[in-house]
Amino acid sequence: MLDQKTIDIIKSTVPVLEEHGEQITTVFYKRMFENHPELLNIFNHANQKQGRQQRALAGTVYAAAKYIDNLEMILPVVNQIAHKHRSLGILPEHYPIVGKYLLLGIKEVLGDAATDEIIHAWTEAYGVIADAFISVEAEMYDEAASQNGGWKGFRPFIVANRVEESEVITSFYLKPVDGKALASFKPGQYISIKLEIEGEEFTHIRQYSLSDAPGKDYYRISVKKEAGIETPDGKVSNYLHNSVEEGEVLQISAPAGDFFLDTERDTPVVLLSGGVGLTPMVSMLNTVAELNPEKEVTFIHAALNGKVHALKEEVAATAAKAKVNSVVFYDQPTEEDRQSNSFDVEGYITKKWLKENIDLDQADFYFCGPVPFMKAVNSSLKALGVTEDRIHFEFFGPMASLEA
Ligand SMILES: Cc1cc2nc3c(=O)[nH]c(=O)nc-3n(C[C@H](O)[C@H](O)[C@H](O)COP(=O)(O)OP(=O)(O)OC[C@H]3O[C@@H](n4cnc5c(N)ncnc54)[C@H](O)[C@@H]3O)c2cc1C
Ligand code: HEM
Repeated sequence: MLDQKTIDIIKSTVPVLEEHGEQITTVFYKRMFENHPELLNIFNHANQKQGRQQRALAGTVYAAAKYIDNLEMILPVVNQIAHKHRSLGILPEHYPIVGKYLLLGIKEVLGDAATDEIIHAWTEAYGVIADAFISVEAEMYDEAASQNGGWKGFRPFIVANRVEESEVITSFYLKPVDGKALASFKPGQYISIKLEIEGEEFTHIRQYSLSDAPGKDYYRISVKKEAGIETPDGKVSNYLHNSVEEGEVLQISAPAGDFFLDTERDTPVVLLSGGVGLTPMVSMLNTVAELNPEKEVTFIHAALNGKVHALKEEVAATAAKAKVNSVVFYDQPTEEDRQSNSFDVEGYITKKWLKENIDLDQADFYFCGPVPFMKAVNSSLKALGVTEDRIHFEFFGPMASLEA
């Protein structure tokens, strides 16, 4: 436990650190990677270049510091991050490295203002925060490994099948090479893939939501080919699309994540997705259709047009079997889309449309998509009076703020 004086120092210095947050984390990562280049095998380089990961980590350390005498308050956030850490293979021995360079960053940016007393207090506080993560993650590692068909770290999977779902999205069906049992998962959860790409200095790890219901002898992921316009093409998604054929072996970590459908609740469910954000939603949809076909589900998907609309026939077939109302939005429908009547609404999902078409009083809402899509859905739902406990979402990248 920290003494009161340390707690007071931490709380009084949080605002200063927040003010210099970006500078501190930039120095922190630069120094850490200079001295521990092996960590570049774990961190996502594209997220680093865009500063997203730096903001997420620093923001959490300061948020934790504010509640340093009551860390229970931020347990949901710790849980969410710990899932990601577990999926990536972050271990207790990594924490002192991050701590050392975070402290160095604070010293370097604050200069003389960072007195010995302040540095000492932050060293202790970081230790407490790190311990909280380490103990939550230890439980998660145990749980992932001890379940039927579970494992620790990365396990080789063979690509049993690949299916083109649209011009930009392809599904990969993955089966464990050892032929043994396959851990179940909750619909909405993701796995991590660790890739060694020939000619690349570091390994690359990315998360992919499982896009089919649990209980099969495979995991399915559906991956969008990320073409950079003014930036480089996405590393892993392009490699998967261009170079990974049936028979290829991929290293996969056990399913993780705190975004999943609560199958116990009997309230109606509204699943909203934009673009490739439909993957966890299709898993949820397929699960409900198998377990509880009488449950009321609204599946709302927004895509640019029919060319990039993935898993369309699958969703339509599932909707026909269960009590599912499926609504398709195209922002820029093609002539062919119009002639074949292959969408329901032209344009974006709006607050007005939600108000007029959705029962907002009882349903649980789950959504995923590009950040602007998520911001729009989130603010519409809140403005329409949907309470936070009924709003659930997943980011396909480091967590960010959904507030406008
Ligand atoms: C929980 C979770 C679930 C996910 N589920 C799915 C899923 O089901 N399907 C799916 O397709 N994806 C999913 N993702 C996203 C996925 O993990 C990858 O982020 C995505 O495939 C892109 O990876 P990449 O290696 O191809 O691109 P990266 O190489 O990581 O690049 C990402 C973006 O950054 C840009 N970029 C690269 N370098 C730079 C630079 N120097 N400066 C500026 N910009 C740069 C690229 O142009 C690209 O647009 C999920 C992510 C998370 C966190
Ligand atoms: C108390 C210390 C730490 C805090 C507060 C923290 C916080 C975070 C946060 C907020 C995220 C983003 C989660 C998301 O995707 O939404 C994250 C991701 C990540 N963390 Fe940590 N973390 C800590 C320690 C560590 C350590 C010790 C390592 C390993 C050296 C590590 C490696 C990573 C990696 C690789 C990611 C994913 C990065 C990416 O995909 O860009 N973290 N962490």
